[in-house]
Amino acid sequence: MSDMVLETRDLHMAFGGLVIFNCMNFALRRGERHAIIGPNGAGKTTFVSLVTGLLKPKSGNVFFDGRIVTNDTPQQRVKAGMVRTFQINSLFKALNPLESVVLALLERDGKARLSLRSVSAETKLIDEAMALLTQFDLARDAYGLTEALPYGKQRLLEIVLAVALQPKLLLLDEPAAGLSTQQGHEVFSQLAHLSKDTAILFIEHDMNLVFRYADVVSVFAAGALVMQDTPENVRRSPRVREVYLGN
Ligand SMILES: Nc1ncnc2c1ncn2[C@@H]1O[C@H](COP(=O)(O)OP(=O)(O)OP(=O)(O)O)[C@@H](O)[C@H]1O
Ligand SMILES: [Mg+2]
Repeated sequence: MSDMVLETRDLHMAFGGLVIFNCMNFALRRGERHAIIGPNGAGKTTFVSLVTGLLKPKSGNVFFDGRIVTNDTPQQRVKAGMVRTFQINSLFKALNPLESVVLALLERDGKARLSLRSVSAETKLIDEAMALLTQFDLARDAYGLTEALPYGKQRLLEIVLAVALQPKLLLLDEPAAGLSTQQGHEVFSQLAHLSKDTAILFIEHDMNLVFRYADVVSVFAAGALVMQDTPENVRRSPRVREVYLGN
């Protein structure tokens, strides 16, 4: 089994005439906590969308867990263990957070076709869901209406739903955006406790979070991977200061 859970080879991406990546080669080890940083418009979100299958590259390949997934749908990639932070969709809006997490756990166990009525019989899953909500400080909101949760808690719930699937790779696009500094640290300290069976790729602008929680940092700028190294080396690099850190 390869050490790498994710690799991209010679990815080329363009929107019309706007070339985003010419030749993106990227690799991420199993269990790694890997941050992508870079200026606005560098292609960070586009890269995550190419990895998860929301976008198709013009050429090149995405390898996940040792297999080419370039032509797989996003749903097939989720099933294979690649999960991106959930968007809160209409299905979950009418449910309370506990029900939502139980549904995610059912999905993980391949039992997603059970009706909500039978959910109430799944006492073990309910306990597990409650434990996850407690871990992310959402226990007191378990029975409230998802829609009525403040924005920060909705972001947290998205992360809990993703974590519930026990992915091999969890992709988070600016998970701390819209959260207070303290909430941001809480989210990341919980993520840091996740089993190393889950690798995490996160885009983040808050350098305190990046330098504290990443094992490896990739710097994207103008469609290229400028540097991929430890947080310490990235922090010290004059080239990175020039393209991004700006001081
Ligand atoms: N669907 C699209 N159609 C056309 N252009 C797009 C599309 N999505 C992104 N772009 C362009 O591609 C470039 C990269 O965008 P992307 O969203 O990947 O940047 P980013 O690094 O995530 O930036 P930010 O830090 O602001 O989130 C930008 O110039 C953007 O305007
Ligand atoms: Mg972005």
